[in-house]
Amino acid sequence: MISGKTAVVTGGSRGIGEAIVYKLASLGANVAVIYAGNTAAAENVCNKCKQDYGVEAKAYKCNVADFEAVKDTVAKLKADFGTAQILVNNAGITRDGLLAMMKEEDFDAVVDTNLKGAFNMIRHMTGLFIRNREGCIINITSVAGIVGNAGQCNYSASKAGLIGLTKSVAKELAPKGIRCNAVAPGFISTDMTENQTDNPLLKMIPLGKMGGTDDVAEAVAYLTTAKYVTGEVLRVDGGIAM
Ligand code: NAI
Repeated sequence: MISGKTAVVTGGSRGIGEAIVYKLASLGANVAVIYAGNTAAAENVCNKCKQDYGVEAKAYKCNVADFEAVKDTVAKLKADFGTAQILVNNAGITRDGLLAMMKEEDFDAVVDTNLKGAFNMIRHMTGLFIRNREGCIINITSVAGIVGNAGQCNYSASKAGLIGLTKSVAKELAPKGIRCNAVAPGFISTDMTENQTDNPLLKMIPLGKMGGTDDVAEAVAYLTTAKYVTGEVLRVDGGIAM
């Protein structure tokens, strides 16, 4: 039961994050939506949560890669919601390219957002979770972090790092009643994958099609209430990384 709890979702203004926000709101959770730039989209998501699900919802513009900005944002959402019990680290970017040509800034930007961003959020929210003796952290990784992907060494490294972070946090915080799991999507139809429709890897999906954002949101919802599951990486990938 997550009704009445507060969930913080990074990158919640569109794509997979938006679907996660609606799913958790539909289950009665209040939602703090963290977004990078599109204020109108984030406000729309919050308004839909309030109107359709009757929960509290508020948007916060914050670059998750910025340690101090995350600290300030967590202080703001604590003032608004009192506390929080659920954190979904979904914000992520790609800067694909072949290793031999990859610019340093493209490697750094992806690792800073996808991996350090999750660390920043966990780092600043753990105090709330410890005080509550309750917390559920879910990191959105990728099958690229499990099996690797040519042309995505920066992205795969960041997502593999997220799996290591997930397992270490799960071990370290379990005694405090805090669980930490990861969801590893395969090909999910969003803005991030709109130029992937000709990717030959799509033909290798055993279930024969791309996934939808709701498929990932369902897995996140499961993990919010799976009280004996921690340190797990749940693939939502149509079987491609079996
Ligand atoms: P998207 O590009 O549609 O949305 C990404 C969200 O992250 C946006 O709301 C954006 O504003 C936010 N964001 C980006 N940088 C940020 C920053 N520095 N600070 C705060 N927010 C920031 O992407 P999509 O497809 O919805 O992906 C969501 C997550 O799922 C990402 O972590 C991605 O790596 C992961 N994923 C997606 C897959 C797919 O097939 N779409 C497959 C595997 C993993």
